[in-house]
Amino acid sequence: MIQPLFRPRRNRLTPAIRDLVRENQLQVTDLVMPLFVIEGQNQKTEIHSMPGVFRYSLDLLVDECIDLYRLGIRAVVLFPALDESKKDRVATESANLEGLYHRSLRAIKARVPGLCLITDVAMDPYSSDGHDGLVSPTGEILNDETLKILCTQAVSQAKAGADIIAPSDMMDGRVAAIRAALDQAGFTNVGILSYTAKYASAFYGPFRDALDSAPKKGDKKTYQMDPANVKEALRELDLDLAEGADLVMVKPGLPYLDVVRALAEVSEVPVAVYNVSGEYAMLKAAAQLGWLDYQKSVMETMMAFKRAGAKIILTYHAKEVATWLAQEAVSGPR
Ligand code: PBG
Repeated sequence: MIQPLFRPRRNRLTPAIRDLVRENQLQVTDLVMPLFVIEGQNQKTEIHSMPGVFRYSLDLLVDECIDLYRLGIRAVVLFPALDESKKDRVATESANLEGLYHRSLRAIKARVPGLCLITDVAMDPYSSDGHDGLVSPTGEILNDETLKILCTQAVSQAKAGADIIAPSDMMDGRVAAIRAALDQAGFTNVGILSYTAKYASAFYGPFRDALDSAPKKGDKKTYQMDPANVKEALRELDLDLAEGADLVMVKPGLPYLDVVRALAEVSEVPVAVYNVSGEYAMLKAAAQLGWLDYQKSVMETMMAFKRAGAKIILTYHAKEVATWLAQEAVSGPR
């Protein structure tokens, strides 16, 4: 009989040994749950292309936040689904302190003060053009003109209780501009989670369904990154760190794990990853067809993010994962 010299399988022999040698851990406090808010009372509408994910009216949104907090989730990121009538060219509604978004922030802060509130900064949920920046009459996305709008939006969100501002727009110079605007308004303790490497991705499709926010004309390729590039992500990282980002993010997640790894190797601040709507939809669809074990494939996906070097994971699976982690704590891992 052949006797191998080396036996890596020894370290896989029993659950106890596997627990002992495991290199990466997933904690419930790594998770951030994205949430969608809509107008109305007692409304909970499912997103067609994201089964199990809902848009909540403010009252139910607060209940959901209480639930998430009880499960150990410590942060949420909020997006508004607005009626077309609330949208205009300059995204006026994005800084309306009495609007749905800002009312929601205040309500969550009041009822779940321990929950970290991350807010999204970009024009698209409020823009009649469906773009993250201001669109010129010729269809150009205007960078510097957009910065002013983003700064006003960010400061208004801080006033309503945001703990961390997350610009998802990919305009140049927005981290420095938002930092300066926050500081000038006295919000020196409000942090910035920059969407550092956000790619022009087809995986955002279900999110745009959720907000009805797809661009009316053109695409987002003049501001979101080309999926072919990784060095460019490192350049964006350098700029974001120089401009004062407290946290940096890669988006989407699973198709861009190499980018997560590249940033995690050099970043001086924690790296987050956004496991986006289309990634959620893929696993949900396969599970519904009976083609994948949902829980196992979700947990494996979460571990992939940790292994790639992400500290923080924004994911629509967050509540399910938190529930499973709590069960595991009682009964041991599956
Ligand atoms: C836009 C924004 C998008 C997402 C978050 N913020 C979509 C886009 O860029 O069109 C996508 C999130 C997801 O797909 O889950 N500012």
